[in-house]
Amino acid sequence: MPDTTWWKRGIVYQIYPRSFQDSDGDGIGDLAGIRSRLDYLAWLGVDAIWISPIYPSPMADFGYDVADYCGIHPMFGSMEAFDSLVREAHARRLRVILDFVPNHSSDQHPWFRESRRSRDDPRRDWYIWRDPAPDGGPPNNWISNFGGPAWSYDEATGQYYYHAFLKEQPDLNWRNLEVRAAMFDALRFWLNRGVDGFRVDVIWHLAKDPDFRDNPPNPGWDSGQPEINRFLQRYSADHPDILDIVEEMRGVIDEYEDRVLIGEIYLPIDRLVAYYGRDLKGTHLPFNFQLIQAAWNARDIAALADEYERALPEGGWPNWVLGNHDKPRIAARVGEAQARVAAMMLLTLRGTPTMYYGDELGLGRVEIPAEAVQDPWERNEPGQGFGRDPQRTPMQWDETPNAGFTDGTPWLPLSQDHETRNVEALRRDPVSVLNLYRRLIELRRATPALRVGSFRSVCATETLLAYERESDGRRILVLLNLGRSEERLPPGAEAGRGRILLSTHLDRGDEVVSDPVLRAGEGLVVELD
Ligand code: NOJ
Ligand code: MG
Repeated sequence: MPDTTWWKRGIVYQIYPRSFQDSDGDGIGDLAGIRSRLDYLAWLGVDAIWISPIYPSPMADFGYDVADYCGIHPMFGSMEAFDSLVREAHARRLRVILDFVPNHSSDQHPWFRESRRSRDDPRRDWYIWRDPAPDGGPPNNWISNFGGPAWSYDEATGQYYYHAFLKEQPDLNWRNLEVRAAMFDALRFWLNRGVDGFRVDVIWHLAKDPDFRDNPPNPGWDSGQPEINRFLQRYSADHPDILDIVEEMRGVIDEYEDRVLIGEIYLPIDRLVAYYGRDLKGTHLPFNFQLIQAAWNARDIAALADEYERALPEGGWPNWVLGNHDKPRIAARVGEAQARVAAMMLLTLRGTPTMYYGDELGLGRVEIPAEAVQDPWERNEPGQGFGRDPQRTPMQWDETPNAGFTDGTPWLPLSQDHETRNVEALRRDPVSVLNLYRRLIELRRATPALRVGSFRSVCATETLLAYERESDGRRILVLLNLGRSEERLPPGAEAGRGRILLSTHLDRGDEVVSDPVLRAGEGLVVELD
């Protein structure tokens, strides 16, 4: 029996809900907006949407500061709007994945308000409170991921609380079993409403060193890097006890049929794969961000694909991510031409692809004027390029004002070229990046070798990456030119005769080739004889 598990076969599309589609003119995207765009997603051909947080929140970190794990922020809509979004998505065979933010809540969550009331409040231990160091300073040298100390002092009770992110995002204490039970109930709340799974925020942060030892300095740090990098995160993250927690979380997911658990994890490959869990009882998909972090160089990418394949545990299903709301967009990192090559790579590598809304339009970095900055990280460590607003700007739908995103004033500016770079215009252009994404998705769906086949590196030079996918004797060769001049496989590496199924330039098809020449920035999918 072939394995038809949807999250292995399908393609995940990330929606940043503030920026996808506004339906009520407040300039901020919402659930009804997403619902009105489901036909587009079905047309594009993706299988699942992951929606960044939509829960009640003071929005200090745009929803990653949750004030109620079982509600919907009125700005995004109502519970009815949520239920009808799920219903209508399912009617189009689109799965719905929610963002679960277990490491920290908002400081406005009733649990934290209670926790800070007094040292012996029953909720005190739900968060991480410590006495000051002997000099009155913070309990250790841990730094917030957004800069500055990770401890804030609470005058009323004379202790510090820990926050890996903003001070408005106190870390929950996952060593406390009541916390686990309450959070697992929140998962069940949404699973009962029909959601198909979760992307778990900073899952590698869930347990910290019980002794809260100082982190060691990072010898590789320089002042151009975020402050968090001054120290190696040895004691503040990736603690071995996290695996037990993740296993329990997975147990909750497994109470339901056919749901998926995805973990956000920024760690080197050897540590990343630990999050599949013992006997694959951890996350189904620990997000693989290697393509986001890699230098755009064929040799490096081939090496990390091979390393990743080798590191996967027996039966562990791979996955690849090209962009998200925290990292500069792919077109901003590698340029417009190479973004097409990247799309072909994402959709032909072995494992579940996750794409980020707007990348299918080739959206680049949108410059945000100082007075329009929204991201708290940019505010904390300004002017150094860490801010995330440039990759969170509104989706561009058509030629109408604000590109059809809103009738009001968009919360972040649109990209300057929105009159030409939008869904409607790119749909009409047969060789647009949008049509390339659609064709790649269609090809992946129709080609078992791409969906489920084996992976083998064929060759990698500085600029040419070649790999083969194979299933049931059908062999697909993928050739990617990461350079600016013509390329062909080096002598000795020729792969044999075949038929071109797709070029990133969308102007070659059904051509029989034996040693194809790739134009600058061209990628080819070739079915070998
Ligand atoms: C990772 C999320 O993707 C990011 O947007 C957020 O700021 C941090 N976690 C904190 O929740
Ligand atoms: Mg709105």
